[in-house]
Amino acid sequence: MTIKNDKHKFLNPNLNTLEPYVPGKQINDSEYLKLNTNENPFGPSPCVKETIVKFLENSEALLRLYPESESDSLREVIAKKFATKSDQIFVGNGSDEVLSLCFLAFFAGRGCLSFPELTYSFYPSIAKLFKIPFSTFQLKKDFSLDLTSITPDSKSVIFPNPNAITGIALSIDVIDRFVKENPDKLIIIDEAYADFSKDSCVYLINNYPNILIVQTFSKSRGMAGLRVGFCFGSKPLIDGLKAVKNSFNSYPVDTLATLAAISATKDDLWFENNIATIVKTRSYFTQELEKIGFRVLPSSANFVLITHPRLKADTLRDHLFKNKILVRHFPETRVSNWLRITIGKREDCDVLLSVLKQKISGAN
Ligand SMILES: Cc1ncc(COP(=O)(O)O)c(C=O)c1O
Repeated sequence: MTIKNDKHKFLNPNLNTLEPYVPGKQINDSEYLKLNTNENPFGPSPCVKETIVKFLENSEALLRLYPESESDSLREVIAKKFATKSDQIFVGNGSDEVLSLCFLAFFAGRGCLSFPELTYSFYPSIAKLFKIPFSTFQLKKDFSLDLTSITPDSKSVIFPNPNAITGIALSIDVIDRFVKENPDKLIIIDEAYADFSKDSCVYLINNYPNILIVQTFSKSRGMAGLRVGFCFGSKPLIDGLKAVKNSFNSYPVDTLATLAAISATKDDLWFENNIATIVKTRSYFTQELEKIGFRVLPSSANFVLITHPRLKADTLRDHLFKNKILVRHFPETRVSNWLRITIGKREDCDVLLSVLKQKISGAN
């Protein structure tokens, strides 16, 4: 979908061919089982809810004032948790905003950007918005990223680890080597799903000035509705981001979201249990899908990408939708016969498995 339309005579003409990112369907109907946008099935830590209740008691005083412009108190807590310095951290309104500001601060005006041919489809949308030239690099036959296929003249590189859509992760050693061997490229690792793989590149920011790691409270901390994202990098990179942010929106993270994110960061026990449950459910769901003939890519995230040798993915998606289950289907040729399914609670997976089993037995 482009926004080109004669009715848009007041639109910036540069935007005529813009292809906006298409987010997954948000249906506010609890009858639907939502397994399409990789949200956390358990929601946030109970400490977050307590913080919100306390906030309401004092809301007049708190809402009257602007929030902290640089999210100082949240950055302090994140720094302690990740053993970094607070001036190595930047906080924004969801990691999508952090990513957008990174594109503007580090990719625009600096030559060609490179990202995987199959990845988070927000990247090409932001690149087009900011007129950043880009090329894509290949995935291997097994769907893992092939960093050797990145064109040498690209000035910057971004990819999620684990990769979005596939869930496949690269090892930290491979990323470490790549960053070391390419000191003139700025490399951004989008770790939206890294907590489900237990492998993070954050410590590499102390070794290299050319790496930036983006994370979010939306997935592993169950706070997609409050919109908090953050990133780690050397102080000069973080200062660059602050300068761009302050030229665009000086107070991107509201006071309630800031306090909630502080509580979420401090509740280690809830976090560890949540991750362990989702990882266990992911193994169970994978095994059960394989038993009924699906191929499941090895996922290190809170979703799986699956395909069936006899059933078409779009037919399956429509069938699941009729049964009030939302999953995600992507148009890209290489995955057009695959579905991406978020790991829900175990009972959610069982509901979905029973619908799939019925469909498969009907198709036999
Ligand atoms: C790879 C990746 N990065 C970033 C995001 C954005 O997350 P948020 O803006 O909720 O922090 C998503 C959302 O699904 C994602 O899949």
